[in-house]
Amino acid sequence: MQYEDLIVEVHGKVALIRLNRPKALNALNDRMMNELGEALAAFDKDADIGCIILTGSEKAFAAGADIAAMVDYTYQDTYRDNYITRNWEHILKVRKPVIGAVAGYALGGGCELAMMCDFLIAADSAKFGQPEIKIGVTPGAGATQRLPRAIGKSKAMDLLLTARTIDAAEAERIGLVSRVVPADKLIDEALAAANTVAAMPLSVAMMVKDAVNRAFETTLTEGVNYERRLFHAAFGTPAQREGMKAFLEKRLPNFEGL
Ligand code: CAA
Repeated sequence: MQYEDLIVEVHGKVALIRLNRPKALNALNDRMMNELGEALAAFDKDADIGCIILTGSEKAFAAGADIAAMVDYTYQDTYRDNYITRNWEHILKVRKPVIGAVAGYALGGGCELAMMCDFLIAADSAKFGQPEIKIGVTPGAGATQRLPRAIGKSKAMDLLLTARTIDAAEAERIGLVSRVVPADKLIDEALAAANTVAAMPLSVAMMVKDAVNRAFETTLTEGVNYERRLFHAAFGTPAQREGMKAFLEKRLPNFEGL
């Protein structure tokens, strides 16, 4: 598929989606978010894909929602057209693992979109922040909810109220990203991680993602019960038989097609 604001590649079982509006530092507008939704849905359905990477450019993952596009919005425009909800949250419906690979700016909606990925690998050039308050709005794509859950209330309030930007090292220290790698190795490292994930049994990877996401929506007891049901369900998959037998037979498992 061809897109105006995305570059899409397939590397074996890994789909790589690049946000591509370089002149606006990948500011997120409707066309890009619609295309992103289409691309994600297509790869989620594609039986040959086991993991998806979402990335931007060397300079910017995304510098936020497109300010030029929204400067003249009124309250009634945003409410009537369901701004954000209408096309930003397709990524949350993706059932396969999605890795965010962040270089350069991930600000405002860019940081929020990154936080909707399952885990983040950051280039040492990455910069994260929620500067919305400086342009007279609250965050609108989940930062006030996802940031405190990811990094705790004090850090989240600090970033949200001061609008300060943090570097990759601080982002890793506070748990916003899982790994930091040299900028020129970002895509290689993301592909290596994605290939590792894609080599796992897909149905089980999807169950793990489902169970972790449940943790943010429910109580501990309910979440553990949910995990237990998925654990039991895993015994109904060929992956369990193959994985456990392979261990006992001292060979590598073959999860192809599982
Ligand atoms: N929207 C629209 N255009 C943007 C943009 C954005 N969020 N961020 C950058 N651009 C554009 C600039 O207007 C500029 O365009 P021109 O060349 O046509 O003038 C181009 O990208 C390059 O930007 P700068 O010249 O500003 O580049 P810089 O290197 O000096 O600064 C930056 C980089 C610090 C990221 C700065 O561009 C910046 O602060 N951007 C805005 C960040 C921001 O406020 N994001 C939050 C948006 S609101 C939001 O996201 C709401 C939400 O929660 C959903």
